[in-house]
Amino acid sequence: MEGLNLPPNIVAMMREQGRDPTKDPAAFAEMKKRKEEREQRLISKWNQQNRQQKIKSWLQYSVWSGSRPLNFPFERWEPNMQTNTQLAREVGNSAWKLANRMIAGEQFNVLMVGEPGTGKTSLALAIADKVFKNAEKPYLFISTMKLFGMFNERFDNPKVGHKLKDLQKKAKQAPILIIDDFGTEAGMKIYNENTGKTHFKPVRKDMQEWLYEVADARYDEYENAHRGSTIVTTNNTSGDLVQMYNPKLISRLITKRKDNTIHFEGLDDMRG
Ligand SMILES: Nc1ncnc2c1ncn2[C@@H]1O[C@H](COP(=O)(O)OP(=O)(O)OP(=O)(O)O)[C@@H](O)[C@H]1O
Ligand SMILES: [Mg+2]
Repeated sequence: MEGLNLPPNIVAMMREQGRDPTKDPAAFAEMKKRKEEREQRLISKWNQQNRQQKIKSWLQYSVWSGSRPLNFPFERWEPNMQTNTQLAREVGNSAWKLANRMIAGEQFNVLMVGEPGTGKTSLALAIADKVFKNAEKPYLFISTMKLFGMFNERFDNPKVGHKLKDLQKKAKQAPILIIDDFGTEAGMKIYNENTGKTHFKPVRKDMQEWLYEVADARYDEYENAHRGSTIVTTNNTSGDLVQMYNPKLISRLITKRKDNTIHFEGLDDMRG
């Protein structure tokens, strides 16, 4: 037993129990194992707390449409709620695959487009939830309507101005960014008497610039590659969106890749 390098705390622990660690290798081994197991439990508890802290700080910066943060893990996606169960299953699978690509380290933009209440925000959150749980990449959620509200408020309330600055910094850096309900802030279509056509009014310039800076920071022109992944949910077609926003922003934000786009057309409105 002389050659054994005994940790002093274990030796002390055994002596307290009236055992001699130098003469009782089996008891020593057992105590050492128990101690290691306890340490392992503490480490994993600490890691879990650390992860929760990490996601909490991003959730604090997020801008939600309601008063509370939303959460929607994939387990809550129920294709059976939909008339077209098959389509709902396919849509869920597409989102699942996109999450796996992000977990594997790919960075790209995602577009989720379709009618209200069909589950776009839910599946955007499900992707973010899965990527965080499997790859520890946190996400930032921005409700475009709430963001628009902040732009309206910022001249009356300087605090909101500072918040917009901080939010923009976070949005540039977020490993996963959800821009939710993009396009709703433009309001309803306007009828033009001269042309006889309806069109969307462009979104206020300061908000366009704010978003452009974010989208530009998340795109590496030189490498032609995305920095982080951006998930956009919208009720609008790309044609609508270019009436509301500068094409340079749309080009950076809205993917044209079919495999990165999920269409929710054909699904029912699930809001009761
Ligand atoms: N397949 C589904 N399984 C379980 N819940 C669903 C499903 N589809 C939608 N929901 C629920 O229906 C509600 C509306 O969904 P969600 O907010 O994701 O729709 P949306 O497409 O983002 O709508 P909008 O365009 O109005 O923002 C939510 O409460 C969501 O949890
Ligand atoms: Mg939504």
